[in-house]
Formats: sequence, C-alpha cells, structure tokens
Amino acid sequence: MLAGEQGEILERMFRLLVRLGDIYGADRMIPVGSVQVAGVSYKSIGDPGLEFLEDMAGKGAKVRVPTTLNPPGMDLEDWRELGFPEDFAGKQLRIMEAFKRMGIMMTATCTPYLVGNLPRFGEHIAWSESSAVSFANSVLGARTNREGGPSALAAAICGVTPNYGLHLDEKRKPNFLVKVSAELNDTADFGALGYHVGKIVKDGIPYFKGIKHVDTDQLKALGAAMAASGAVALYHIEGITPEARLFETMGLEAIEVGDKEIQETYKTLNTGKSADIIILGCPHASLKEIETLAHKLKGKRLRTQLWICTSRAIKESATRMGFTESIEKAGGKVVADTCTVVSPIEQMGYKTTAVNSGKAANYLPGFCKQQVIFMRLDDLLGEYAT
Ligand code: F3S
Repeated sequence: MLAGEQGEILERMFRLLVRLGDIYGADRMIPVGSVQVAGVSYKSIGDPGLEFLEDMAGKGAKVRVPTTLNPPGMDLEDWRELGFPEDFAGKQLRIMEAFKRMGIMMTATCTPYLVGNLPRFGEHIAWSESSAVSFANSVLGARTNREGGPSALAAAICGVTPNYGLHLDEKRKPNFLVKVSAELNDTADFGALGYHVGKIVKDGIPYFKGIKHVDTDQLKALGAAMAASGAVALYHIEGITPEARLFETMGLEAIEVGDKEIQETYKTLNTGKSADIIILGCPHASLKEIETLAHKLKGKRLRTQLWICTSRAIKESATRMGFTESIEKAGGKVVADTCTVVSPIEQMGYKTTAVNSGKAANYLPGFCKQQVIFMRLDDLLGEYAT
C-alpha cells in the first residue's frame, strides 16, 4: 500500500497511519475489527471537509472493514419539518452521499454499539467519537485510541491502525483513584460526576470505587462527560467494568467525590434561566431511555419544545412500540440521526437549551452559543411539563 501499488488513495491513507505510528512509537500496524468515523456534520467540517470527502469517493476510496458513521447535522428524513436550513441540508446530504459511496454504513449515530457495531472484549478497533471510544474501551473492553476523523477513515480504508497507546496492555493501567461517596440516582448525576472527574484527570485513566449501582445508559453518560470535560478514553469501575479486576489502586493519586462536588457541578453547568428547547439523547438515546421518557410523559403536556435524539434504527423500534406517538402526544419529538451539538440550533433561533447530559452541557455554550439548563430528567419534566 505504502509503495503505491494499490493506488493513490491507499498510499495517501497508509502514509497518514505511518506518520501517526512514528509520532507515537508504534512497532507495527495491527488489523482492526471495525471503525467508527466522526467528522460528519457540515457544521463541523464545512466546505473543505465536503470537498475532501467527495474527492476521496470520486477517486474510488472504499472501506475494507465494517465502518459506521457518527451523527450528521440534521435528521436526514424530517429535516424540513424540524426547521433545518435548506442550504445546510443540501451540503449535508452531499457529505452523506460521499460516505455511502465509500461503503460506510449510514448508521448516523454516536452509539454504534447499540445498532450492530459491537466489538468483543480485547478486539482492536479504530474509533473516533470520544463517547463511543470511552464506552468501547471501558464497558466492552475493546481497544481503541481516540482517533480523529481522518485517522479513522484511513484505518477503515487500509484495515489497520498503528499499534500504540490503548492497544497496549501497559497503557491501560489507571493513574487516578476516584472514591465516590456521592449518592448517584439519575443518569444526569453520572454526567455531573463525569464532568467533574474529567476536569481533574484530563487524559488520565480513572479507577472508580464506591459506585454500587449503574446501568448501561448511565455508563455511557459518565464516559461521554469525562471525554468532553477532559479527554478520558478509558475508565475502570470496581466490580463493574471488565478490566477493573486486573489492576491495583495502591499509590494512585486519590480524588474524593461527595454530594457537595456533584451539587457544585450542577451549579457550574447551569447558565440559563428559561429553556427554549429541551434536548435529550446525548449520547444518542437507547430504546430504554425513550421508553422511560414516553412513560413519564403519559397524560402530560410539554410547555416547551422537546427533542430526544437517537439513531434511525432505535427510532424505528420506538415507533413500533408506540413510544414515539406517546412523546409526540405530549408535544415532544423523537429526532433521528443528528445530535444536540453538531446541529445548527443557534441558527434556528434557540438561545437556551435544557439537557440532562454532562457532555451536552459542556459543549453547548461553545459550539452552539447556548445558555444551558442542566437537570435530572424528573426535574426537567417537573419544570416544563404539566
Ligand atoms: Fe453524541 Fe452529539 Fe452527544 S455525537 S455524544 S449526541 S454531542
């Protein structure tokens, strides 16, 4: 590939991977089982990204391992009805077409593990999308670095990634011990915990003790927030995540998190007063989260707009189960494909967004010029539904 015997695209992409491997001291390339490609929204990649992707697709670039795709900047079917700008939509659809021509699956979600891209324990993968990277490494025990959009695409096209960082046993050891005494009841509490810890450990590997009960949705919220406020790509939780039992925590720098730290985090992240819109589903909502919302909204009427973002595949199941209808009856919407942060909500007139996600609360002020209301789901519905 590097010698150009398999064409210009493979040579260019392989060269990128070699350069990356050289920088990080990789000893060789390793095959990857799957790839998750980020950098999909027109809002994030703009015209240069669109031109690059169309050029690649036009020159015949094709992925050689199963490759799934992050959210674009709009619902790919209902964008008109939801008020997405026409010119934005035109460019976004061209981006999607370029990815499709390369053989990338149009999953359009940041939770690929909920829609069929489910790596096994110990499998080497090359994923971008920091929340999915965190989930794959920590909860599933697969192995990936935090790839950027281009390096993930190169891995998909070449089928390999350089062997360094989190692909190696010795780089998966924790370097912080987080002792949790806070009471964590709601998914938003795990987002607050993740936001707080990510700020302190930055790109470190925290080992949590004291978390007794946590479900899969809460794990995805925790990892997403830590990857956003810091750059955490792997965490361990005693008795919960699969690699936790492999490591000692003696001598690690300790951080204590009690109720006070969680309350302070809620205060820090709340910058808005009255929400123009509530956006849930960051990371993309699971079927269980949509079911919970549908049940909580039964017989209620929302006083502000509400979107719950998810993948198209999960929305189909939610619709089949009647959850979409229940949410719509209350005045909300199940929005597929896109996400809070990569959609152009600031251009659509929204100024204050309410969320239950630590990751969204972290990014919305900078990426979408939003004031933020960050609350537990029950508190949000108490405030905005009657
Ligand atoms: Fe997913 Fe967007 Fe949140 S990509 S993790 S919904 S910021």
